[in-house]
Amino acid sequence: YNKLKPFPDDFLWGASTSAYQVEGAWNTDGKGLSVIDMMNHSTESADFTVASDHYHQFKDDIRLFHELGLKTYRFSIAWTRIIPNGTGEINEQGLQYYEELIDELHRYGIEPIVTLYHFDLPYTLQENGGWENRDTIAAFVNYSRVLFSRLGKKVTYWLTINEQNTLILHPGAVGMPKNGELPSKKSLYQQNHHMLVAQGEVMALCHSMCPQAKIGPALNMTSMYQATSKPEDAIAAHNWETLRGWSFLDLATRGEYNYLLWRYLEERGWQPKIEQGDLKIIKEGNPDFIAINYYSTATISESTGEKSDVMPRAGDQQIMLGEPGVYRPEENPFLDKTKYGWIIDPVGLRLTLRKVYERYSLPILISENGIGAPDQLNDDLTVHDTYRINFIKAHIEQIQQALTDGVEVFGYCPWAAIDVVSTHQGYNKRYGFIYVNRGEFDLMDLKRVKKDSFFWYQKVIESNGAIG
Ligand code: BG6
Repeated sequence: YNKLKPFPDDFLWGASTSAYQVEGAWNTDGKGLSVIDMMNHSTESADFTVASDHYHQFKDDIRLFHELGLKTYRFSIAWTRIIPNGTGEINEQGLQYYEELIDELHRYGIEPIVTLYHFDLPYTLQENGGWENRDTIAAFVNYSRVLFSRLGKKVTYWLTINEQNTLILHPGAVGMPKNGELPSKKSLYQQNHHMLVAQGEVMALCHSMCPQAKIGPALNMTSMYQATSKPEDAIAAHNWETLRGWSFLDLATRGEYNYLLWRYLEERGWQPKIEQGDLKIIKEGNPDFIAINYYSTATISESTGEKSDVMPRAGDQQIMLGEPGVYRPEENPFLDKTKYGWIIDPVGLRLTLRKVYERYSLPILISENGIGAPDQLNDDLTVHDTYRINFIKAHIEQIQQALTDGVEVFGYCPWAAIDVVSTHQGYNKRYGFIYVNRGEFDLMDLKRVKKDSFFWYQKVIESNGAIG
């Protein structure tokens, strides 16, 4: 383009976190246990019990978010703070905590974007079958009703379930169950169905209880490239994009099981049991926008069914696992990777935004995007995270390209506002604009330090994206 469109004046420059990754205080003030508290985490076993101690330091943290210039802050509510056992008794202290947090944000003019559920299902529900048990639908609807009723007047933007597709496609990603056994695919697609019914009900409930509010799903979305011009590679790439992305969004937005997903499930005997009325509920839950978490893209070739198609290569993120006979991941010689093996692809964000918008015509919020790195704190209390500045700058440039293309993007919330415990790789894999002084096992003083990216992002926001 000769001339790029400017970011809209009301563009929501923001940043993200999630409850279990930032709060700590895992058993404080009446909080119940979640699956996160009860699972064995990956090898590096970060300490989720204290995390970044945001529960106790939220006022100071929000002051820093204000200094950063955030227009919005996307965080999640821990279900177990509100209803410790998932159903039944409501914990007033939990409600008070989030009410104070939201009030504090408003005091600084920061718009809250609230995720209802970000991986941390109450453990009591899990023990009763988790999402495979239909009763979890009612539990989620009831929990959401409590939040809409108490916080509804103070919150305009709600997100339903964070990365439902990750929960279904990578059930081990949020920690391995203690017995080390992952659910079967049949069970996972049943869970998926129940989450969809729950989400449909919750979206409709939100619209009836909070008419001024907007609500949407938050899925991990990415585009694929076919490895060669071989037609079979194109089919495999389409399989990948549909089974891992579109089929989830088709259900969340159009309320329909995608034909290809349904065929895939039937072929394997993995179709969920659908009760009468379920599809109507799913259809009647209409999102106002789509939130996407975007980190990277995939490059795909045909899989002829060899076992090696499913093997991760050293350093690869889990999302790159193949599926014999369906798709096979390939290296992309045009793209670099982060230290943790995640593919870096800013242009892929523009492509993903175009495709999502073209398919659903709904406004889009980028609810996550970022680079995990083992940042170094220097003796003079600086953190030179130039790689993060470069990463975010390149992605913002592509958002502006997409805006110029005509895509409606209304906010950008990089992961993360402040360092948090990584879901898969411990505390030293950092994402924040603000450094938290703690190690993997040594909690040190938890002091907050502004990284170079903090000062840089501050300027981006001040100039409404004129980063030139
Ligand atoms: C997203 C999740 O999938 O990726 C976050 O919503 C997570 O919770 C983020 O932290 C980055 O992944 P990781 O494993 O590097 O923490």
